[in-house]
Amino acid sequence: MLNFHKNHRNLVVTSLLVFVGLSVLIAVVPASEIQRTKPLPSMKDFSKQERAGLNVYVAENCVACHTQQVRNIEMDNVWGSRPSMPSDYYFSKKRLDFWRQSPSILGSERTGPDLTNIGKRQAGKEWHLLHLYNPRIVVKESIMPGYPWLFEEKDASQVSSDEVVVAVPEQFRKGSSRKIVATQKALDLVAYLLSLKQADIEGEPGIKFIPAKKKNTGTDSQTQPSGPDGATLYTNTCGACHQADGKGLAGAFPPLAGSTIVNDNDPELMIKIILQGYDARAEYAVMAPFADMLNDDEIAAIATHERSSWGNNAPAITAEMVKKIRESIKTISQK
Ligand code: HEC
Ligand code: HEC
Repeated sequence: MLNFHKNHRNLVVTSLLVFVGLSVLIAVVPASEIQRTKPLPSMKDFSKQERAGLNVYVAENCVACHTQQVRNIEMDNVWGSRPSMPSDYYFSKKRLDFWRQSPSILGSERTGPDLTNIGKRQAGKEWHLLHLYNPRIVVKESIMPGYPWLFEEKDASQVSSDEVVVAVPEQFRKGSSRKIVATQKALDLVAYLLSLKQADIEGEPGIKFIPAKKKNTGTDSQTQPSGPDGATLYTNTCGACHQADGKGLAGAFPPLAGSTIVNDNDPELMIKIILQGYDARAEYAVMAPFADMLNDDEIAAIATHERSSWGNNAPAITAEMVKKIRESIKTISQK
């Protein structure tokens, strides 16, 4: 038997068996496994625009720096509420076109953040457009390249009403006073990014996953921290638009430093804005609602942080105040 390679028949038969065995193991079995994968019940297919955006994402090679996979390890907990699973990719596995295979969006380089849940984390279309035009507009230290070719410069008279003008601040437009207009490609790409949300698996029968262990920080029982940290929450949820210094961004996001709404003794309007979103003025973009993303304690902590930072000076907000306003909004919308 050990001399099988000296007999040409044995040699051919053995190589053939090894070849067929490996093919089944590493190609046929995984492929049929993939074909049996079903989407999660709460997932829906990409719209036409979102799928066009996926193609732009692939064409611009965003995958060079961004992953879309939450691994089952602790350092990935910030990128999603659960680890990724095969079903998550059900709708993105469609071929790009006749010539090209399904896109590989998992990525292996994480120079920038994981984008699995970016639609939940960063809900503003205007923010994404500014960020794509030049990331430094909204994130000062960003090393992400800009994608100005996804935008067009036009004279104000050429801009039609259905086009999206991006509020690029003066210092980022090289002295030109022309309007920066998002192309269809930019709008498609942003639609795709906003569609990236992890599907909920809570209460789905037959789906189990083991969450990565949280590190035992020793604060569990004895030393309960005194509620959420407003400054950190502000940085994570509001700072992208209103900026770390609370000064906002001219033409897109209003300043919270010195804002009469933030400093008002009566916090009702401010809390309503956080819960319901805001689109009161044409010169600013739209703010999305945070009612589903932040609980009363967190909103109180953020509001208190805003009312006591950047020279602002107004009384603190309690979770009870937020709760009351949240309930008053609910009763109105139920009527
Ligand atoms: C050279 C690497 C690189 C490339 C290429 C790149 N990015 Fe980024 N991206 C980053 C870095 C670094 C950050 C973090 C700093 C920032 O927010 O700008 C980032 C941040 C982001 C964010 C915000 C993430 C968050 O959690 O707030 C989005 C959205 C994004 N990129 C989308 C894209 C898209 C879409 C493309 C392709 C058109 C792209 N990126 C190409 C490096 C890159
Ligand atoms: C996607 C960008 C974005 C994010 C994120 C965001 N905002 Fe806003 N915010 C806006 C825009 C745009 C406006 C102005 C809307 C208008 O007036 O039309 C605004 C207005 C406000 C105002 C009213 C200020 C004034 O004087 O007019 C407050 C208060 C506020 N936001 C608080 C928050 C808080 C707190 C958070 C975090 C929980 C937050 N915002 C997150 C975009 C954002």
